[in-house]
Amino acid sequence: MPIKVMSIFGTRPEAIKMAPVVNALKNDERFVAKTVITAQHRDMLDQVLPIFDIVPDYDSNIMAQGQTLTDITTKVLLDLHPILQKEKPDMVLVHGDTTTTFAAATAAFYQQIRIGHVEAGLRTWNKYSPFPEEANRQMTDVLTDLFFAPTVQSKQNLLAENHPQNAVVVTGNTAIDAMKFTVKKDYTAASLASNKQRQLVLTMHRRENLGAPMTQVFSALRRIAQEFLDVTIVFPMHKNPQVRQLAKEKLSDLENVRLVEPLGVIDFHNFIANSYLVLSDSGGVQEEAPSLGVPVLVLRNTTERPEGVEAGTLKLVGTQEEDIYQATKELLVNPQKYAAMAQAQNPYGDGFASDYILTAIEQYFCQYIR
Ligand code: UD1
Ligand code: UDP
Repeated sequence: MPIKVMSIFGTRPEAIKMAPVVNALKNDERFVAKTVITAQHRDMLDQVLPIFDIVPDYDSNIMAQGQTLTDITTKVLLDLHPILQKEKPDMVLVHGDTTTTFAAATAAFYQQIRIGHVEAGLRTWNKYSPFPEEANRQMTDVLTDLFFAPTVQSKQNLLAENHPQNAVVVTGNTAIDAMKFTVKKDYTAASLASNKQRQLVLTMHRRENLGAPMTQVFSALRRIAQEFLDVTIVFPMHKNPQVRQLAKEKLSDLENVRLVEPLGVIDFHNFIANSYLVLSDSGGVQEEAPSLGVPVLVLRNTTERPEGVEAGTLKLVGTQEEDIYQATKELLVNPQKYAAMAQAQNPYGDGFASDYILTAIEQYFCQYIR
């Protein structure tokens, strides 16, 4: 009997990193695949799905402008209840650390359905940084039965919390699987800066960075744009109105700053591959950049992704204006410092994480359940 696996996700990064798993499940006769989107993100999720040919079986369509964490959690719980009752999957797969992740795992737990957690074991050990993601992933792992850790480090984090060794599988990160599909050597379409310009890409959206920290970052980049006229800063703005309003207020008058809509993932991956430098508070970008050899200044004080810092591609710079200005300037004026960071080293596996995940699920059901 095939194993019925239901993948549940809701935001852009979950969709990008679950897409390879969803497609592998769909094309494998060991499994019956069901896909549920909560649509915690609407536009940014809908941008991803057709790129990977994903047509969900259920769409909870929960997103509301200015939604609170309570809104997301309660809507997901209520909406998933009848879906899980009807479909009765053998296992629910969740990904990462969003509120969809935590609420979907909770909904499955309430019906005693087994839970597999893709990208399990990332930790900062500080429940407010990043907020609420660190708590989301810890709470999800309390409920998880089968853990897919992207690296040995994340496996060790799980073992330190006394999760059973035989339930933790190191798979690599499915972001690398996705990049095998998106990154193309001869890609040209997403060139947003002229050839003579050095291109800096900015992404920023974290809840704890909204307001004052984001203002500081924008002030630092304003100084960089005014001082370095050979630099173009491109900011594909997250759909959060709080991000967009502030960016427009602080940066829209500068000729060499381009505030653009979120890029499709194929454009975005190839665009950062061809950029000089990335500044970002994103989790996913921290995983992608090391294999592209593009330095990233991480706009956060802590990271649950130390692998890229150890590989030398990422540097944590926080959100203080002067720190960001100095760190960016250093990479613009000092070729040695730049070269030391601009090296491609992928700590996240061989791009077959999805296959390892499917094998682990099959073995789990053979050895422990049937
Ligand atoms: C969420 C996740 C965060 C993840 C991020 C990826 C939580 C608590 N946060 O944060 O972990 O890093 O997604 O981007 O789960 N909006 C739109 N259209 C969209 C998406 C968002 O209009 O397609 C607007 C809405 O007004 C929404 C707001 O952005 O209320 C914030 O979205 P939300 O999912 O609550 O939080 P994110 O900051 O996107
Ligand atoms: N991304 C994208 N278009 C953009 C910006 C980012 O496709 O304009 C991709 C990026 O490559 C990564 C994911 O979105 O795979 C990261 O999403 P985000 O930063 O919103 O969330 P996080 O990873 O911080 O949870």
